[in-house]
Amino acid sequence: MENSKNLIIVIFGASGDLAARKLMPALFSLKAQNIMPEKYAILGIGRTKITTEEFRKKMITSILSFSEEQISDRNLISDFAKDLYYLSMGDYSTEGFSDLKSFLKVTDGKYGIGGSYIFYLATPPSLFEPIAVNLSKAGLLDRKDGFRRVIVEKPFGYDLESARRLNRLLHKILAEEQIYRIDHYLGKETVQNLLVTRFANGIFEPLWNRNYIDRVEITSAESIGVEERGGYYENSGALRDMVQNHLLQVVGLTAMEPPSSLDANAIRNEVLKVFQSLQPIKEEDVPNQVIRGQYTGSLIRGECVTGYRFEKNVAKDSRTETYVAVKFFINNWRWGGVPFYVRTGKRLPTRVTEIVIHFKQTPHHLFQRVSGRFSSNQLIIRIQPDEGILLKFDMKEPGAGFNVKNVNMDFHYKDLANIRVPSAYERLLHDVMIGDSTLFSRDDEVETAWKFLDPIRRAWQNNPEIKVYGYPAGTWGPEHAKDLIEGEGLDWRYPCKNLADDEVYCEL
Ligand code: BG6
Repeated sequence: MENSKNLIIVIFGASGDLAARKLMPALFSLKAQNIMPEKYAILGIGRTKITTEEFRKKMITSILSFSEEQISDRNLISDFAKDLYYLSMGDYSTEGFSDLKSFLKVTDGKYGIGGSYIFYLATPPSLFEPIAVNLSKAGLLDRKDGFRRVIVEKPFGYDLESARRLNRLLHKILAEEQIYRIDHYLGKETVQNLLVTRFANGIFEPLWNRNYIDRVEITSAESIGVEERGGYYENSGALRDMVQNHLLQVVGLTAMEPPSSLDANAIRNEVLKVFQSLQPIKEEDVPNQVIRGQYTGSLIRGECVTGYRFEKNVAKDSRTETYVAVKFFINNWRWGGVPFYVRTGKRLPTRVTEIVIHFKQTPHHLFQRVSGRFSSNQLIIRIQPDEGILLKFDMKEPGAGFNVKNVNMDFHYKDLANIRVPSAYERLLHDVMIGDSTLFSRDDEVETAWKFLDPIRRAWQNNPEIKVYGYPAGTWGPEHAKDLIEGEGLDWRYPCKNLADDEVYCEL
C-alpha cells in the first residue's frame, strides 16, 4: 500500500459527531495498520471551547467506543493521541485563521512536515463557503512546497443552483484536483467490488444490457429513524440525503461502460455519461414515477416507535419524505427501455443495501416452477450487511417429471479473507493523503445528479396534491411503491439481513 507524504490534517467541525464516530476511528485504524505517513499531526477545529488535552481525552473515548480495530494495546491509542491538537474558533472569522496559520507554521517546523496540508470541512454546509474563503485569504490554499487539498462533506448543495454556486466559489480558489467531495458509499469495499465483478469477469458483459436484463432494482433500507438529526433531515429528506449522492453513484457504477483504465477521470467520465443519459423525469410524471412516504408511529415487538413528526426538531405537519422510490430509464444503447427502480427509507424492517439484476425470462417456457411461476434469474449484489453475491437460478428437483425449483448460489465476502473489511472513511482518507480522487465525486457529476432530481422536488413543492404516504415504522414503506414496478404480479425483492435467507421474516 502506498504511503503518503508527511502532512497535517485539519478537521473543521472536530467537536461534531462525524469526527468522533467516523473520522478519528478511521485515522486511528490507518495508524494501527501502519499506513499513516511517517510524520503527521492532526488539528481539530471546532466551536466548543476545550483544550488540546481535553480534545485528546475525548477522542480516545471515541476511538474506544467506535473503532473497528481489535485494540489489544492501549498504548497505541495514547501514541496516536499525542499528535492530536485542538483550536477553538468561535465564528470562523479571519482572526481565527491567522491563529490557524501560526499553528501550521509552528507545527510544520516542529514535525518537519514540508508544507502538505489537508483541510476537512466536516461542518454544516453553511460554513463551507466562509471557511474556504478564509483559508484562501490566509494564503493557506496556495501550493508552495507540499500539497493543499480540501475535503468537502455532504451535502454538496441542496439543488442544482446551490451546487453550481459552491463549485464556482471553490474553483475560484482551488483547482478541481485539489477538491475531494466525499460520498462515503464510494469508500465501501463492496461498491468498489462492483467494478471488479463487472469488469474482471468476462461472463457478465455479454448479458449486461437491454437484451438480457429485464429490470434493475436498488434498495437501501435502514431500520433506524432520523435519531438526533431531525433538524438536518427536515430540509433534506430521503431524496437529497440518499438518492442524489449514494444511490445515484451506485446506479452509475452498475450501468457505466467499461472505462479505458483505472485512472480517476476515466472512471468518473463513464459515471458522468450515465448521469447525462438519465431520462429526465418531467414534473407532470412525478406522481407516476416517484412514491414518497413518511414513517408513522408503531409498535414493534412490544416497543413503541415514534413517528417521524414526533421526532426531535421535526415539524408536527412535516411533509419531508423518509422514504422514496423512483422509477427511471437510462437512454443509451445498453439500457434503452430497461426500468431502474431505486428505493430508500428509514425505519424499514432491516438495514440492507443491495442491487438486484433481474434477467429476462427464457423465450419459451418448457418448465414451470413448483410455485407455478416461470423462471427468471436474478443476480443480487449485496453492498451491506453480509456483503456478497447471490445468483438465483432454476434446477430440477430430483424425482419423476420436471419439477423446477429456484435455488441460490452464493458467495459471502467474509469468506474471501480473514481480515476486517476497512471502513469507508479509512479508505477515503487514505486516498486523499495519496492524492487519488477516483472515489470522490467530480463537479460535473454532482451537478448532473442534481439536474436529474430537481424536477422531483419542484413537483412536490408546486403540487401539494402529490401524496406523502404514511407507513408504519418497521414496514417496507408505502404499498403504492409496488405500483411502480412494471409487469403483472411483479414486486420489489424482499431482502433479509442474511443474503441467502430470502423470503423469510426480517428483523428490525
Ligand atoms: C448518510 C445519510 O450519508 O448515509 C444518513 O446522511 C444515512 O441519513 C447514512 O443513515 C447511511 O449510510 P450507511 O453507510 O449506514 O448505509
